[in-house]
Amino acid sequence: MCGIVGYIGKKEAKPILINGLFRLEYRGYDSAGIATIENNGLKVVKNKGRVNDLNNTKGIDSLKGTIGIGHTRWATHGKPSSTNSHPHMDNSENFAVVHNGIIENYADLKEFLKSHKYKFLSETDTEVIPNLIHFYFESSKKTGNMRFLDAIANTCKMLKGSYALEILSSMYPDNMIVVRKDSPLVIGKGVEENYISSDIPAILSFTKDFYLLNDNEFAFISRDSIDFYDSELNKIDKECQNITWNAGAAEKDGYADFMLKEINEQPKSIRETIGSRISKNSKTLLPDIDLDKKYLNSINKIFIVACGTAMHAGYATKPIFEGLCEIPVEVDAASEFRYRNPLINEKTLCIFVTQSGETADTIAALKLAKSKGAKTIAISNVIGSSITREADYTVYTHAGPEIAVASTKAYTSQIVLLAIVAIYFAEILEKNLEKCSELKNDILLLPTKLEEVLKNTDKIKEFAKKIYKEKDVFFIGRGIDYSVAQEGSLKLKEISYIHSEAYPSGELKHGAIALIENGVTVVSVLTNRMLVEKSVSNLLEVVTRGAKTFIVTNQELNHDFDEVITIPKTSTLISPVLSVVPLQILAYYISKEKGLDVDKPRNLAKSVTVE
Ligand code: M6R
Repeated sequence: MCGIVGYIGKKEAKPILINGLFRLEYRGYDSAGIATIENNGLKVVKNKGRVNDLNNTKGIDSLKGTIGIGHTRWATHGKPSSTNSHPHMDNSENFAVVHNGIIENYADLKEFLKSHKYKFLSETDTEVIPNLIHFYFESSKKTGNMRFLDAIANTCKMLKGSYALEILSSMYPDNMIVVRKDSPLVIGKGVEENYISSDIPAILSFTKDFYLLNDNEFAFISRDSIDFYDSELNKIDKECQNITWNAGAAEKDGYADFMLKEINEQPKSIRETIGSRISKNSKTLLPDIDLDKKYLNSINKIFIVACGTAMHAGYATKPIFEGLCEIPVEVDAASEFRYRNPLINEKTLCIFVTQSGETADTIAALKLAKSKGAKTIAISNVIGSSITREADYTVYTHAGPEIAVASTKAYTSQIVLLAIVAIYFAEILEKNLEKCSELKNDILLLPTKLEEVLKNTDKIKEFAKKIYKEKDVFFIGRGIDYSVAQEGSLKLKEISYIHSEAYPSGELKHGAIALIENGVTVVSVLTNRMLVEKSVSNLLEVVTRGAKTFIVTNQELNHDFDEVITIPKTSTLISPVLSVVPLQILAYYISKEKGLDVDKPRNLAKSVTVE
């Protein structure tokens, strides 16, 4: 939900900012803009459209300054337009601001500022910020650098909502101030230069040393120094962290799209997720979760809370926790959980799953669970992300950067990690140890089996060519296969814009079967030996009504269907890691056939940092 980038150093800022914006474009692509400090003051160039359009916008070539801020927008308040693009300036044009987040009380603040004769050009919530900074700057009793900081700290005290802000002022041509609350922001430290970004991969090619700001902390940045302050402007110390990710991990590596690369990376990402956490004949190692038998025996419910694909990983692993740990599991959408007064207390364990670690609803849900006395575990892919700083315990998926908006490798890594957590708990509880050991063996074999699945994509590509013009597609499955159907359906709709729905196979005939007519495609996942006959019967019900069928299975089927993709056998419990892959590939090729932007589907953003 919007990406922000900043640079202060000795080099020209513009190419560095544009480079960062290209990498952050997955966070929003409605408009882009940059501001630099030139000899004659602040200069802003912005435009509706993508970063590429910004690169061709009038005035961009004149930016030569060595300090600047940039923004790529996912529109919330005000349609995509040049005027609504960031950076925004105050009326005196002495302050320029880029913002990721939402100012919930912007209407009141606008009225307040209007009563002091401020004028507004845009429809955005953000434009109140530079004007408030100007207002407080004018009335500040502080001097020097503290006056700049004081104006921003007073402004932040007025803001309700979420924000990561970068602020430039023509009166402080050698400094930049950044602050965050509930929106991500990292600072990369270089030699006589510093970088700012919404995420680490965007600036990983420039530095590997990062400072992570906590909520309500400020950084006053110069070329060769960074001073940190808390919300009351007391100086604080911050440790610099060295990130070991390889910069190449955030590149396409010869693939046409990040999504295709990330689908193909799954054998590797699963190997990384497994790491040394499980091995044959030895106990599962998860030192980051320090929970003992007494505590685990005391809990009577586990919640898995997440959004979108991460929530689907929760659905896929609910049977593993219930089967191995014998504790009831509820899976909930974070946006529902946080507003429905869920029944939780100190006997509830809440697991929050989020690739980015920045999803606003998931973070709010975690805070709610904590306030009710539950212990909280975050499953995230992004080191140091916001949720990891709130949770009691964090375990990382280690899937590597996921850039495509449609989540693929993060989903399979989340399932594997959740399965490992379930096994870890069952081993502590000394329950179902034989099943645990079988499942561990199956998990260890997943990377090789994934390689096999990825070798057989031709038939899927051909089927995509047959159905890419369709308007509706149905996904069905029973039990764990239904959870995969849900994920397959989400993948298809988000990158191909084809309407699709997922149904439990047996549920279709209770209404939705009315929509099945000649030529409609039904995709089915079928991996549970116990349910094959029932699932085949459900499929025949749609075949009789003229449906085209695409089946993903590891079972022998005694019927002909239009396309059958056979995947390697594995335990049903962990089968989603394999069965989802043909569905990811199907969605990918349908999107390609339609000529769409696979990595950046319309209306979406990679991390949803607004509720
Ligand atoms: O970063 P998170 O895992 O918290 O993101 C949650 C969802 O926004 C995300 O999974 C979304 O559904 C994906 N675009 C689906 O491909």
